[in-house]
Amino acid sequence: MYKIRTYNTIAIEGLDQFPRDRYEVASEIAEPDGILLRSASLHELEFPKGLKAIARAGAGVNNVPVQRCTEQGIVVFNSPGANANAVKELVMAGLLLSSRGIYAGMNFAAGMANISSDEMGPMMEAQKKQFKGQELMGKTLGVIGLGAIGSNVANMALNMGMNVIGFDPAISVDAAWRLPSQVQKAENIQQLLGRSDYVTLHVPAIPATQNLLNKDTLATLKQGARVLNFARGSIVNSADMIEALDAGTVACYVTDFPEPGLINRTDVLAMPHIGASTSEAEANCAIMGAQQLVEFIEHGNIRNS
Ligand code: MLT
Repeated sequence: MYKIRTYNTIAIEGLDQFPRDRYEVASEIAEPDGILLRSASLHELEFPKGLKAIARAGAGVNNVPVQRCTEQGIVVFNSPGANANAVKELVMAGLLLSSRGIYAGMNFAAGMANISSDEMGPMMEAQKKQFKGQELMGKTLGVIGLGAIGSNVANMALNMGMNVIGFDPAISVDAAWRLPSQVQKAENIQQLLGRSDYVTLHVPAIPATQNLLNKDTLATLKQGARVLNFARGSIVNSADMIEALDAGTVACYVTDFPEPGLINRTDVLAMPHIGASTSEAEANCAIMGAQQLVEFIEHGNIRNS
């Protein structure tokens, strides 16, 4: 009987992929063959004897000590593409939220709860100019990171009538994941930042991407650009982002990674790391992780797609 240790928030659909006649699946297993997890950190975990593989139900593996796993011969999987649609859809919301007076307008509308409908009309007419926004069509979106999520976002933006320019610090634009041919190729990050009205980040949190958006790179941004971060907090230097917001270089920062100083500002829209939080994405990731573990533990096959 193979043993799989799960950590919380793993969608139950994924667990059905472990045939119950051959697998015991539970959160309290002491010496598992495999681990299936979402967001819990394994950095402090002393690997149990006999552990063969870890499947991270998500794109990023920064909660797994990959180097230590490699040294100890433990295979690490992620689930590329399995939550790309969920993230793409929230990026679409972020683009709209940062462009239109949705959030402030809804707060204003909620504030009219105690007035009569006769009074509402004139009040809205008097105030609505402060909620005027801009359209996405015809604007340029810079996509940094062209894996499954970045490529999905690029497709979505093209469909919304945006121009798209792409750059990936690790792979050439030609090698990117299902990238449409209309995506323009930036030679470097500065070129992308200088041409984009909106910039969206989709790179993993690795040493090479730490503080990718910093004082120097932010200085090359088009004035008044909007920046979206549904990747990881460490990719943006917070102090430098605050300065860029204060200076108006960045008109709005949409982030899935709230930090002190970057919340409670009208030019920051912060969300609590919910980019991949849909029932569908959770099920997709858990199923992919479960299949990867079964394939590897039973047959020795490594399938990371
Ligand atoms: C990811 O890395 O894909 C996300 O962080 C997934 C999640 O929210 O668990």
